[in-house]
Amino acid sequence: MKAAAFNRPGGPEVLELMEVPTPEPGPGELRVRVRAAGVQPFDLAVRAGWMPAGLPDGFPRVPGNEFAGVVDRLGTGAAGPAAGTEVVGFTRLTAYAEYVVVPADQVAPKPAGMPWEVAGGFSAAVQTPHIALEALGVGEGDTVLVHAAAGGVGSVAVQLARIAGAAVIGTASPANHDYLRSLGAVPVAYGEGLEDRLRAAAPDGVDAVIDGAGGEALEVSLRLVKDPAQIITLVEHDRAAGLGVRLTPHRRSAARLTDAFRHYEAGRLRIHLRGVFPLARAADAHRELATGHGRGKVVLVVD
Ligand SMILES: NC(=O)c1ccc[n+]([C@@H]2O[C@H](COP(=O)([O-])OP(=O)(O)OC[C@H]3O[C@@H](n4cnc5c(N)ncnc54)[C@H](OP(=O)(O)O)[C@@H]3O)[C@@H](O)[C@H]2O)c1
Repeated sequence: MKAAAFNRPGGPEVLELMEVPTPEPGPGELRVRVRAAGVQPFDLAVRAGWMPAGLPDGFPRVPGNEFAGVVDRLGTGAAGPAAGTEVVGFTRLTAYAEYVVVPADQVAPKPAGMPWEVAGGFSAAVQTPHIALEALGVGEGDTVLVHAAAGGVGSVAVQLARIAGAAVIGTASPANHDYLRSLGAVPVAYGEGLEDRLRAAAPDGVDAVIDGAGGEALEVSLRLVKDPAQIITLVEHDRAAGLGVRLTPHRRSAARLTDAFRHYEAGRLRIHLRGVFPLARAADAHRELATGHGRGKVVLVVD
């Protein structure tokens, strides 16, 4: 099969369309013919040479943690959707490819009206803030601060916090402020004077923070909450424990996807696409994400 993969770590240019062995589903697994795969900052780090613990570290290495496609083959005993079912799913690496194999409980049937591009970028963009808001106990009447609120994860964090009944303040550059308002957040510009602007927007402080930016965003947030455990950082993995700040728990599931689909189908949750690239242009998709600016998700489509 074809995959966008790399044989050595490096810049976006190491990512090339190449032939790799087509995976076969083992017991309890199923294979999906991929139609779209989301692109995450995680993938850029992997391509540059970082390797998460517990994953096979050989080459060629295929990035991609989220995908959508059609179930193609089930392994023995796999209790998953039947062959032919359109699904959204998650994995760790391997999704930038024509086929992906995952445990059968890592896919959920895709809403019929959801376009493939949206479905491909749905899992990580939605599950990450869904898990974070749950872990922070965000509910009716809370004030939530989302840093990098216009990004792939932040855009969904804003919407899910609003659905939970919270007031939301989101940081972004002024170019994205109208976008944040359209999602239901009060926009605040990052950069010099951030703390003063946040205090003006939330005179009583904030109840929970999702930090998708790190650095100054995290420093300022620590001064706005009563307890650092009210903050989940998506970025500062190395510093979090020392600061008493939390990381996103590992709780991805098909049930969580299905719960989020309800909001999508009811029109309460939308995914803005920042860029859609064919698999052969995965390097350009990485270049786009690497700018660090823009709104919504970058997605690869697979013919
Ligand atoms: N731990 C996890 O489970 C997990 C999962 C997914 C993602 N993440 C991490 O979460 C972070 C965000 O991911 P993403 O996919 O949403 O990335 P993304 O889409 O690339 O985020 C881009 C956004 O960041 C904003 N931004 C840049 N600098 C900023 C600053 N100083 N303050 C506030 N906003 C700023 C940009 O806004 P402007 O365009 O307005 O500048 C842009 O909207 C990444 O570090 C990623 O690795 C973690």
